[in-house]
Amino acid sequence: MGPKSIAIIMDGNGRWAKSKGLARSAGHVKGAKNIETIARAAKAMGVKYLTIYAFSTENWSRPDDEVAKLMELLEEYITKAIKNAEKNKMQIRIIGDRSKLSDGLNARIAEAEKITSVYDEVYLQVAFNYGSRDEIVRMTKKIASDVSDGKLSTDDITEETVSNYLDTAGIPDPDLLIRTSGEQRISNYLLWQLAYSEFYFTKVPWPDFSPKNLEEAIEEYNNRNRRYGGV
Ligand code: IPE
Ligand code: IPE
Ligand code: MG
Repeated sequence: MGPKSIAIIMDGNGRWAKSKGLARSAGHVKGAKNIETIARAAKAMGVKYLTIYAFSTENWSRPDDEVAKLMELLEEYITKAIKNAEKNKMQIRIIGDRSKLSDGLNARIAEAEKITSVYDEVYLQVAFNYGSRDEIVRMTKKIASDVSDGKLSTDDITEETVSNYLDTAGIPDPDLLIRTSGEQRISNYLLWQLAYSEFYFTKVPWPDFSPKNLEEAIEEYNNRNRRYGGV
């Protein structure tokens, strides 16, 4: 059966731009446009859950103007998603630490999540100011606080409890992780959730990653033998 849940590390915007003699921001613009294309293609290929990495907790260390551009692009993307909600029938959720995002951006995010919450054909999670270690710290604090408030007992904490306290609660773990642009690392992405995912690395930079490339990744996934520790 094809993958139902796919995570993507959308990497290579900067190198794509550089190879064309353009500013890094041009790569981010092209990359942001590609999200809609790939989300639609994924839906058509039977993918129900798509989780994309758009901004990591480490990406704050980039130059201020690049960070500002990425914030602006997220806001534009969210605005577009609100406009296309009815057509796409896609539920959107932003995962990551929102407390460091502007009030305006947070308001937009809340609006998009509310408006799209009625749709269930496909679920898109956008990881923004997301870091898996940060998510695990926040999860631990929430569990600790519920234990101290008497809402949860230590003996009842299971793997499922942990999953349910992460930002990705309710979303099945990725069957397949795709990273574009050649790097072969996970850069603080979904450390808990990727425990048994298949990894697929391609040299294609994100702005050029096409529905055809997605199909190739899915095809390779379909030919793999997942074992989960068995024989
Ligand atoms: C991915 O492209 C987008 C973000 C990380 C925000 P990069 O900006 O990392 O592009 P490269 O890796 O420098 O080419
Ligand atoms: C990972 O890409 C984060 C996103 C794609 C948003 P980076 O380009 O930031 O990762 P590193 O620095 O190469 O590990
Ligand atoms: Mg990169």
